[in-house]
Amino acid sequence: MNNKVKIAVFASGSGSNFSALAEACKNGELNAEIVLLVTNKPDAYAIERAKKVGISALVVPPKSFESKDAYEQAILSALQESEVEWIVLAGYMRLIGPVLLSAYPSKIINIHPSLLPSFPGKDAIGQAIAHGVKVTGVTVHLVDAGMDTGPIIAQHAVDVVDGDVEKTTEAIHAVEHYLYKDALSELFSR
Ligand code: GAR
Repeated sequence: MNNKVKIAVFASGSGSNFSALAEACKNGELNAEIVLLVTNKPDAYAIERAKKVGISALVVPPKSFESKDAYEQAILSALQESEVEWIVLAGYMRLIGPVLLSAYPSKIINIHPSLLPSFPGKDAIGQAIAHGVKVTGVTVHLVDAGMDTGPIIAQHAVDVVDGDVEKTTEAIHAVEHYLYKDALSELFSR
């Protein structure tokens, strides 16, 4: 039971979910260790967050590779070197391809800021507000080859706040930061 699950967190942006997960690992709420942050964006703020908590960051710009397979193969080598068991996507804005999907079958998880299957893809919160919905939410799901598809593991509804993207994003992030660790904790204990 003391064996911590080794995870890699993939992020393309701010990394608030990365930080929430790192904190949950540190305080024991999540029986896991983030062994690597992987990012496709050299300017992702998530890199600074990783540095602050002493987690290695692997920066892999896709344009440096001749194909998506070659890009994912480079990531896969690093994951295998660090003995990563699960891939946890946290604001990683790229589709996962066959190289990683076949190396980690049913072991890649994503969090998305809507009640899927509504509003997949980019800017889910903006999409929800443009659509005029009053309730949106957060989904944690297993990753397959589709865009924010794959079996749903956990969902939580969040009210749209004043039809405002910024306020609703804040409410969604607050839910994401506990829903993700709880869902992962449940998955890792299976
Ligand atoms: C989160 O809201 C996450 O759900 C979303 O990106 C944000 C990243 O925030 N992911 C997607 O939209 C995936 N399709 P963060 O960088 O502060 O963790």
